[in-house]
Amino acid sequence: MSEALRIGIAGLGTVGSAVVRLFVEKAEMLIRQCRCPLQIVAVSARHRRRERNINLDSFIWYDNPEELAASADINVFIELIGGESGSAYRAVKLALEAGRHVVTANKALLAHHGVELAQLAESKGLLLNFEAAVAGGIPVIKILRESLSGSKTSRVYGILNGTCNYILTQMEEKELSFQECLKNAQDLGYAEADPSFDIEGNDTAHKLALLTSLAFGTVISLDNIYVEGIRNISLVDIRTADELGCRIKLLGVAVKTNTGIEQRVHPIMVPTSSAIAQVKGVTNAVAIETDLLGELFLSGAGAGGNATASAVIADIADIAKSHPGFQHGPVFGIPANTLKPYTKSKTRAHTGGYFIRLSVQDRIGTFSSLTKRMAENDISLESIVQRPAAETQTMHESKTVVLITHQTTEATLRKALTAITQDGNLIDKAQMIRIERYC
Ligand code: HSE
Repeated sequence: MSEALRIGIAGLGTVGSAVVRLFVEKAEMLIRQCRCPLQIVAVSARHRRRERNINLDSFIWYDNPEELAASADINVFIELIGGESGSAYRAVKLALEAGRHVVTANKALLAHHGVELAQLAESKGLLLNFEAAVAGGIPVIKILRESLSGSKTSRVYGILNGTCNYILTQMEEKELSFQECLKNAQDLGYAEADPSFDIEGNDTAHKLALLTSLAFGTVISLDNIYVEGIRNISLVDIRTADELGCRIKLLGVAVKTNTGIEQRVHPIMVPTSSAIAQVKGVTNAVAIETDLLGELFLSGAGAGGNATASAVIADIADIAKSHPGFQHGPVFGIPANTLKPYTKSKTRAHTGGYFIRLSVQDRIGTFSSLTKRMAENDISLESIVQRPAAETQTMHESKTVVLITHQTTEATLRKALTAITQDGNLIDKAQMIRIERYC
């Protein structure tokens, strides 16, 4: 039997409280599975007296998470504070320096400091587990880190933010505006404290950066992700997508190209018949394409107390099951100091069909000038139609025009859109949504 685990938890929000409650409920099962005594001995949170429906009496209380991290009371530190720097960063670093294994659900922290923290953990022979940081309860980190040895990954993509997927699903099913759906998501407690993190795509980008590193063995490269959120998606876009046999999803995509790795987060029209289009509400999904396995598709609860706590507890159990003195597996699958430098694929190399929504002046010649600019740039159009005005469109003399292109490159399309904008026909910024057929 391995050494007893003495666990300290910093952060008792929804996830931290669920971890404490589930530990009590499942203590016997965990001890049987891990064949090792494991118990929470200390906790830390911002407010000691807040109502959490859990009994904290038997735990040592720390006002300061950094003191808990380095304390001799514990040998495993669970960081559920959140935030890319500040207390979470200092506490994790202190815990590793003091020789404590670490479990964290903090995607922002790892997206910014993951390689540094992994090197520190590995140099000390410690585990730094982070299953809960990506896609809530879906065990995708373990799969990428441990289960695909021998396979070569070519693409990873997924719905990594429950709030955005909930909003897009509600817009489609209830015909509600973006703002109404965002308010519902906030009322239900799905969104981050600052919901712009969800809807602008940053939360998805943090999670994608970690998946990319695991999938391709490169250093984490958050700055090289093209990020576009869902704030500008209107009901016209959702309805037109439906008519085209598509749904709009906010996807994080990482692809290995001939020139490097392409990472992007943006709304994508995917065929309604695809597996990813069936993922609704706060559910998350990740697809991994490899040479040996084809596409592996995982979906499940991406947020919420129990689902995220399930991943935290599985990470703790992995620490309990590891043998003392045994060389632990590297944090990102290969030793952190051997992760390859990140090579960004050539910008604008992305090729595909595009949905373009334009708010144009309602006057003679507008259609012909739009098609002329497309033709000048060798862009073949699948269709061009006039639609009812977008709900955000107020000017009486304006009209909504939707163009669907055949395969073209993003650079070519942007060139055509610049020319269209310069022609002075547009009332608003053009909406461009990529149509992906690989899903
Ligand atoms: N706000 C996140 C989401 C929660 O909506 O998916 C977990 O990262």
